[in-house]
Amino acid sequence: MSAIISPSILNCDIGNLRGELERIGNADIAHVDVMDNHFVPNLSWGLPVVEAVVKSGILPVDAHLMIEDPDRWAPQYAEAGCESVTFHAEAVTAPLRLARELHRLGARAGLALRPATDIAPFVDILHEFDMILIMTVEPGFGGQSFIDSMMPKVRRTREAIRSANLPVTIQVDGGISRATIEMAAEAGADNFVAGSAVFTADNAWDEVELLRELAAHHCH
Ligand code: DX5
Ligand code: ZN
Repeated sequence: MSAIISPSILNCDIGNLRGELERIGNADIAHVDVMDNHFVPNLSWGLPVVEAVVKSGILPVDAHLMIEDPDRWAPQYAEAGCESVTFHAEAVTAPLRLARELHRLGARAGLALRPATDIAPFVDILHEFDMILIMTVEPGFGGQSFIDSMMPKVRRTREAIRSANLPVTIQVDGGISRATIEMAAEAGADNFVAGSAVFTADNAWDEVELLRELAAHHCH
């Protein structure tokens, strides 16, 4: 299984968006964090910035919606051309209806879980999603420390996906770096968001390659 690297542009130099995306042009997809100051105590950006990233044509877009009422807002991100749209389990009212709507609009659908949210209630509907995002920090900010006590949840999710023989990826987001990516891959993640680790590196391109190699040794 190969590793997908999805750098988060949350703390990049947004005044030089095109240049920053070009620094990570070897990544698989660009992770764009949408925050509404309600679901999380931080405000980032919304549809216009996501549309600008899509329009740049440099990388496909992986939208992570940390917002209330994704039932109402998420479809617009699919219509904007995001390859993947992820909404939070804690915020959504009708996850199946929303996942199907995103699929109908041509996007992949991801379900995100905050650290204290278990995978168990979702095991029987995993096949409705393309990706499960297991947060390895409390969502809201870049640059936080990886919570390694999330690894049992990654393992349980991987086992559930494997036993149902589903093509669902497991994304981890928060504190992913050279120091933590192997632990997450070993637990069963195959899709890795890294923000500060990539954008504070002198050479973001090389950091993406290094993270991909470290993960690939452990992905199973
Ligand atoms: C946090 C966001 C992350 C964040 C990751 O709520 O969802 O995508 O940008 O940043 P790092 O890799 O610095 O933890
Ligand atoms: Zn994110």
